[in-house]
Amino acid sequence: MAIACIEDYRGAARRRLPRFLFDYIDGGSYAETTMRANVADLERLSLRQRVMRDVSGAQLETRMLGRSVSMPVALAPIGLAGLYARRGEVQAARVAEAAGVPFILSASACCGLEEVAPAVQAPLLFQLYMIKDRAFMAALLDRARAAGVETLVMTVDLIIHSPRYRDMRSTLTGRQTVLDRLRRMIEIARHPGWAWDVGVRGRPHILGNFAPAMPGGAGLAQFTDWVSRNFDPSITWDDLAWVRERWKGPLVLKGILDPDDARLACEAGASAIVVSNHGGRQLDGAPSTISALRPVVEAVEGKLEVLMDGGIRSGVDVLRALASGASGVLLGRAWAFALAAGGGASVSHMLELLRHELAVAMALTGYSRIADIGPEALLRTERAAS
Ligand code: FNR
Repeated sequence: MAIACIEDYRGAARRRLPRFLFDYIDGGSYAETTMRANVADLERLSLRQRVMRDVSGAQLETRMLGRSVSMPVALAPIGLAGLYARRGEVQAARVAEAAGVPFILSASACCGLEEVAPAVQAPLLFQLYMIKDRAFMAALLDRARAAGVETLVMTVDLIIHSPRYRDMRSTLTGRQTVLDRLRRMIEIARHPGWAWDVGVRGRPHILGNFAPAMPGGAGLAQFTDWVSRNFDPSITWDDLAWVRERWKGPLVLKGILDPDDARLACEAGASAIVVSNHGGRQLDGAPSTISALRPVVEAVEGKLEVLMDGGIRSGVDVLRALASGASGVLLGRAWAFALAAGGGASVSHMLELLRHELAVAMALTGYSRIADIGPEALLRTERAAS
């Protein structure tokens, strides 16, 4: 069957990937309440249908994260994308550039800075976590600079790993018995397309950015172990000042949900924030991002750019986020699923679908320009509620 929408890419990814990898992408933390709320609260948001407003010649181009973009959408940092398709981060970065949208390279990418940066013309955006070993972190910032990164995205909502039941059940995390390993091999054998293209030809399966810190090998098992020892739950806003001293370029804070934290982000000199709950993969019970957005936008009083992610599954969702005060959105699972389903070509197709959906949604709500989309796009009852 042909692919019509992002949800179809989820189905295609499910067929292509070994189950433990699909579950890693698709799943959230604990009972996945927040993950589901991200999608459900967006879907619930009603838009005003407006008619006969001459929406010919609509323009989706705008500015986001300090650059001109073909639509207000970026590819969120996603770990391990090199396991979803062969050298997945390189493919996705190229496609994003061709489509005129920013790509944010995850710290936990398979393809490291030195592999991805030369594959594209424009400067990369690089995501990082606060790491206990500050010497390593300083070295990583130097590597990012040397690779031409201009914008640093600090993810602040993953100071500790949340329990993800699906990963525990699939033994992606936790201890593996011999039987578990055998099951994993059988699961891989049941997906020969993936096994050959990614499992064999997509090697090495290491975490390129962290490899220098893991002399014992930078595979998945070593990484999980290293993460639990090196992610830093003691961080405060003072540590961010440490980063600020070493990073003079634009700094984006990803993982802000609360208006008080948003105000602190302004004081910390962030140039943008991403309203995010890590796709429902961290604090289950946290609000959906669309419901958290408006109070954050009001708190920052226009002092910095506010982006959001979580649950964006269509061009209508992009419009809903813009109407709720975001100046752009990040796509997480949407591009991870497309990449898994068919590599870069599918990410490109997914972005085309999304662009078309956004253009149509703009036409039917009566907008010709991204900058004009505001709260009046929402039904009055929605505006009162948000
Ligand atoms: C993520 N996310 C994430 N965020 C981050 O800052 N660094 C990372 O390495 C990752 N890795 C990652 C892997 C996978 C498989 C997923 C699904 C998510 C979170 C991501 O950037 C984004 O915040 C969410 O994915 C947005 O929600 P949706 O669009 O997936 O619903």
